[in-house]
Amino acid sequence: VNYRHAYHAGNFADVVKHVALVAILQRLKKKDKPLRVIDTHAGRGLYDLTGNEAARSGEAAGGIARLGDLRAPLPPALQDYLDVVRASGAGKYPGSPLIAARLLRSGDRLVAIEKHPEECAVLRHSLASFANARVVEADGYARLGALLPPVERRGLVLIDPPYESGDEFESVARALVGAHRRFATGVFMLWFPVKSAAAADAFCGEIVTAGIEKLVRVDFDLGARPDAGKERLSAAGLLVVNPPFGFADEMGEIGRVLEPRLGRAQDAKIAIAWLSGGEG
Ligand SMILES: C[S@@+](CC[C@H](N)C(=O)[O-])C[C@H]1O[C@@H](n2cnc3c(N)ncnc32)[C@H](O)[C@@H]1O
Repeated sequence: VNYRHAYHAGNFADVVKHVALVAILQRLKKKDKPLRVIDTHAGRGLYDLTGNEAARSGEAAGGIARLGDLRAPLPPALQDYLDVVRASGAGKYPGSPLIAARLLRSGDRLVAIEKHPEECAVLRHSLASFANARVVEADGYARLGALLPPVERRGLVLIDPPYESGDEFESVARALVGAHRRFATGVFMLWFPVKSAAAADAFCGEIVTAGIEKLVRVDFDLGARPDAGKERLSAAGLLVVNPPFGFADEMGEIGRVLEPRLGRAQDAKIAIAWLSGGEG
């Protein structure tokens, strides 16, 4: 098991995932009541885009590096996301636990779970200045159940595994369904790669069939990239359970800003669809 997120930090999929994370947290913060964020596959929290791995893959060049010319006014989640990235320093890119820690209020709490000791050690360092953040070295799937429901009874669970093993879709589906049973009012966001449209559709279908209501799917597809090697991911998605009001609309708006920048020849597409339930 050798996944290192450092190769992918700041790529198009990270950008969309992290903007969505910000959009959810901004909305949850509209209420004064404290909230909990649980990141089951947290990574190291802060990535060096000038380091070996990032430089070798060059993935950030097709992601965050393309957003340097964006100027206000921007959709609020995109603006906050860019501010958090800039605050991380030149050549640095923040991962999900650091983005969450930066956005949470002092009464909110973050639990960041990371299985790999080396990544976990860096994560502890990345989050050291946040008194309301706790780092747990453990298997995110195994630990999640015991953390639900959180005492705050509101918040977000992010499930963002590496999809290295053949059965990761099943593990994610099982984890989501079990976690949702314990914390039915929680917001859940899970990330998945789209290597095959059929496999991704089947996965999403399984979640719908499990009876999870209020489910939005966000798809981002870079479109045809003749220069990209086959092994490089060009499409991914997010499933968001119980998205806060207005999330889907703002993601649509953000999609229109990001599409021409992240895609190669104006053929990128960010699509939002309600798979079950809706607003209104
Ligand atoms: C896609 S990366 C996470 C990126 C992070 N969520 C972000 O957005 O910045 C997946 C991480 O999960 C870790 N990991 C792999 N299997 C795990 C497991 N069973 N439980 C917790 N973490 C795991 C990997 O070491 C890796 O750091």
